[in-house]
Amino acid sequence: MINMEASPIPLLTPYKMGEFELSHRVVLAPMSRLRSYNFTAQPHAILYYSQRATKGGFLISEASGISETAQGYPNTPGIWKKEHVEAWKPIVDAVHDKGGIFFCQLWHAGRVSNHGFQPNGQAPISSTNKAIRAKVHIDGTTAADFPPPRQLRTDEIPTIINDFRIAARNVMDAGFDGVELHAANGYLLDQFMKDQVNDRTDEYGGDLQNRCRLPLEVVKAVGDEIGHKRVGIRLSPYADYNDAADSNPEALALYIAESLNESDICTFKEGETKQSLLGMRKALSRVTFVAAGGYGRDSGNSAIRSGRCDLVAYGRRFLANPDLPRRFEINGPLNEYDRSTFYTQYPVVGYIDYPFLDNHG
Ligand SMILES: Cc1cc2nc3c(=O)[nH]c(=O)nc-3n(C[C@H](O)[C@H](O)[C@H](O)COP(=O)(O)O)c2cc1C
Repeated sequence: MINMEASPIPLLTPYKMGEFELSHRVVLAPMSRLRSYNFTAQPHAILYYSQRATKGGFLISEASGISETAQGYPNTPGIWKKEHVEAWKPIVDAVHDKGGIFFCQLWHAGRVSNHGFQPNGQAPISSTNKAIRAKVHIDGTTAADFPPPRQLRTDEIPTIINDFRIAARNVMDAGFDGVELHAANGYLLDQFMKDQVNDRTDEYGGDLQNRCRLPLEVVKAVGDEIGHKRVGIRLSPYADYNDAADSNPEALALYIAESLNESDICTFKEGETKQSLLGMRKALSRVTFVAAGGYGRDSGNSAIRSGRCDLVAYGRRFLANPDLPRRFEINGPLNEYDRSTFYTQYPVVGYIDYPFLDNHG
């Protein structure tokens, strides 16, 4: 071993996340890899996830659609059908065989979609009729054009909540340990929260309480279904991805954080912007707080040491370094990630062929 430190770095210390005993704090961030043909998880994901699994390590899956209206990208997995659940099972088993803890990220893309992804070619659904104005790059190269969505009627909202609930049940049937609700990055739940997108006049639009109603109802429904300690939520109040911005992100961040903390129903949250962490962190004092976005070894250690978060989720570095916790442990060199293969369909290249430090895996 090289550069072994006398006492473990903060990222490599154990942490108790509710009932889950984590042996370290280096989390695999959710990452869509666009290799799930026919909206179904594929056997090549068995190796991809198990390469990144460690005993007591925490992994979050790529975003998985909750219903046939949820998809907005090619080759992303779903988890609304029986065959989707069956396809996930061997992948989850492989992570468990290595002692990993595996949550499935659930999403509905809302207006970040187009007619081609929707049943009968209908319009995507959203909190609004307004289309995304910004040019958004869905795969790092092509600028996607998004059509105007259809604003959901109030009487349709219980169906969305129920779809999340059923998908969460499917997640548990597939063997996962829990769910992360994707309420970030401009997808459906974020479209409801952000005042620059949500222009509703019913009880799901207007003030903060109304705009956060849908995500909070989904959290409750999913928690009631699978157990509140198995539910996390990803938030990005400060971000404007997919043209979803808020005029007062600080107020939104604190309101949603306080609502989640009071109800004591979530096990972890994810912030995105480092400057915002402290306020949300304090408001979420009773739950596990996961930070993500641009962290390296030193900044991750410092975020944990200073109490700004409990766990750090790594995206691109974990994608390119299947043994990232080990590399952090020994302060080893990191493989560079290759952006050009993030979203390609190859089941091997840029997916399961990043080398391990010790030549195994
Ligand atoms: C290829 C790729 C796919 C991603 N897919 C998702 C996703 O499905 N769900 C999600 O919440 N975030 C997704 N993200 C964001 C990551 O979870 C993470 O927040 C981001 O990469 C920033 O962290 P990093 O600097 O450690 O890479 C994705 C990022 C990348 C690079």
